Amino acid sequence: MEKLLISGGIPLKGEVKISGAKNSVLPILAASLLCEEDLIIGNVPHLQDVTTTISLLTEMGANLSIDEKMKVSVNAASVKKFYAPYEMVKTMRASILVLGPLLAHFGEAKVSLPGGCAIGSRPVNLHIDGLKAMGANIKVEDGYIFAKAKKLKGAKITLPIATVTGTENLMMAAVLANGRTVIKNAAKEPEIIDLANCLRLMGAQIKGDGTSSITVDGVKELRGCNYDVLPDRIETATFLVAAAITKGKLTLTHTRPDTLKIIIEKLKKAGADISIKNDIINIEVNKQLNSVNITTNPYPDFPTDMQAQFIALNSISKGKSKVVESVFENRFMHVQELVRMGANIDINGNVATIDGVKSLTGAPVMATDLRASASLILAGLVAKGETVVDRIYHIDRGYECIEEKLTKLGANIKRLPQ
Ligand code: EPU
Repeated sequence: MEKLLISGGIPLKGEVKISGAKNSVLPILAASLLCEEDLIIGNVPHLQDVTTTISLLTEMGANLSIDEKMKVSVNAASVKKFYAPYEMVKTMRASILVLGPLLAHFGEAKVSLPGGCAIGSRPVNLHIDGLKAMGANIKVEDGYIFAKAKKLKGAKITLPIATVTGTENLMMAAVLANGRTVIKNAAKEPEIIDLANCLRLMGAQIKGDGTSSITVDGVKELRGCNYDVLPDRIETATFLVAAAITKGKLTLTHTRPDTLKIIIEKLKKAGADISIKNDIINIEVNKQLNSVNITTNPYPDFPTDMQAQFIALNSISKGKSKVVESVFENRFMHVQELVRMGANIDINGNVATIDGVKSLTGAPVMATDLRASASLILAGLVAKGETVVDRIYHIDRGYECIEEKLTKLGANIKRLPQ
């Protein structure tokens, strides 16, 4: 397995271009299954999860082409298999996003149940219940979801939890249903708005995305369109923390600062100097920061996808802090690895108490999921000596060219072959 070797202690300096959002491009690729014309997607990040989704769509029979600028063109007119096998879903849970579009457009779908993962049990019962409310006939057998519906019909659905991919699946199912669907307690993440923007360009009738009540009036068919994916707010936030943790000075371009309010607020509170102009964020840090308390919750609150990176930052900031993980039940796997690097952290249920130390020391550590890998890389960037992060394949799922981008900013980081 590939590893990353990092020699820490260098303040990062320079400019970095933020890539398209992983959690936008995955549902938008799945939305291509809703029409028979070309969906041309720009600002697509070069990520393992994108490659997996492209393989999944190709396996189903879609025609795909990618140009040298990573503009991906998908045509689903030739799709013959309405099937997402276990082998694909187990490597990428977001494969569940094909369920709604397949059912809405082709009237059937067989999609593997994702099962648990390194951050929690992560069931998809709410996706299934919502589709059932729209008239789908669904059974779960042999680890697969078998779904059929001649024509979905609009329904009033109240989600007990504001699930992100659940909201996306139901929104995509509703765009071709008969009549009106109202999704209450919908997730409000910017990636939901991005998907809705793309669907509207395809001809869908959607209102209320970005609020907790989304209304979709079904249309007969959708058409192709050209759509550029929103910048990745979690990649942006991770680079902001990279600047903060190394006491560096970075300019992040191609960002969407309006999607990062709580992150910027927390970093400013910690003592970082941040300025924003249009889509550019400048950050400069030249002193040890104060640690900040955090509670993760759905957008617009603090994102669970930045919890691990902020624990790394709090580990070497001044004072004691509490980090509460409220979204996933098991998302502290990075903590024991950070402790091996000298961090002082106690876990009690879903609360991590961190007592900031003056410095971390390099160590061999193991990444357990995507954001945990980011947190260990951040710790490695500031630690004294060498850090080797194992199981680095996780990072390639969600951060485009991470070591190239960090090297350009002055970091000493290299990929070790298997
Ligand atoms: N939940 C249920 N039943 C369901 C669906 C969700 O109980 O049917 C629970 C989950 O177990 C969890 C909570 O609801 O406790 C919220 O999960 P959600 O469904 O919102 O998560 P998701 O849609 O599976 C997306 C992102 C995750 C991100 C979460 C939370 C994508 C492809 N994935 O996952 O991203 O952490 O929302 O914001 O959009 C990542 O990028 O590293 C990542 C894990």
